[in-house]
Amino acid sequence: MANEIEKENAAAAAMDYVEDGMTIGLGTGSTAKFFVEYLAEEIADGLVVRGVPTSEQTRRLADSLGVPLVDVEQVDRIHLTVDGADEVDQQAQLIKGGGAALLREKIIANASDLMVVIADSSKSVETLGKFPLPVEVTPFGYTITAKKVYDALCKAGVLKPMIKVRTGPGHKPIVTDGGNFILDCQCGIIPDAPMTAALLSNVPGVVEHGLFIDIARTVIVGSEDGATVFEY
Ligand code: A5P
Repeated sequence: MANEIEKENAAAAAMDYVEDGMTIGLGTGSTAKFFVEYLAEEIADGLVVRGVPTSEQTRRLADSLGVPLVDVEQVDRIHLTVDGADEVDQQAQLIKGGGAALLREKIIANASDLMVVIADSSKSVETLGKFPLPVEVTPFGYTITAKKVYDALCKAGVLKPMIKVRTGPGHKPIVTDGGNFILDCQCGIIPDAPMTAALLSNVPGVVEHGLFIDIARTVIVGSEDGATVFEY
């Protein structure tokens, strides 16, 4: 329950970055949900913004709350993206993708003038890696890709990574909004996140990975009675 209050407080603080006329990337997950709800309240009070959802789940949520949406293909500028994270370190490097939306999340965050991360305090870590790193891969040849992902992680200094394809009902691989599978890579510690990111991006079959390096500039960590803002 404490985490829910922290998430909500972080989302509330992110509203300080919203200005009339903005096109805003809407993140995915339980923390981003609070932000979309706050945004909807302000829209009902006259704020004029439009949202670009990072997942079908967020599209449905925003639609249901009356947040005007625009197709990503119709957008030439995204002023702000507000999204959650699974882990955030002291350089604003992130692990994302716990909700399997990392591909669209990264395309939209990377295209934004500013990405603001909103998180509860459990997401702040010294070193990334305790949360299994999601890697989105094409279904074709995914077992071969998984072996190459393992090699890349070892080369990046991860000790004994363990890789599992994420499954859902009936133990079938879950399929992302982009039609791909997710490999969850238990790393323990990722000693060099930029190197890991670069090596993973080089593996054929990897569509995208959940390491966000040099994308977030502002991190808001919620507490029980407010939020702390970190600028990078
Ligand atoms: C979705 O794919 C993820 O990147 C989420 O942003 C991340 O998992 C954080 O989710 P919560 O806010 O639900 O913890």
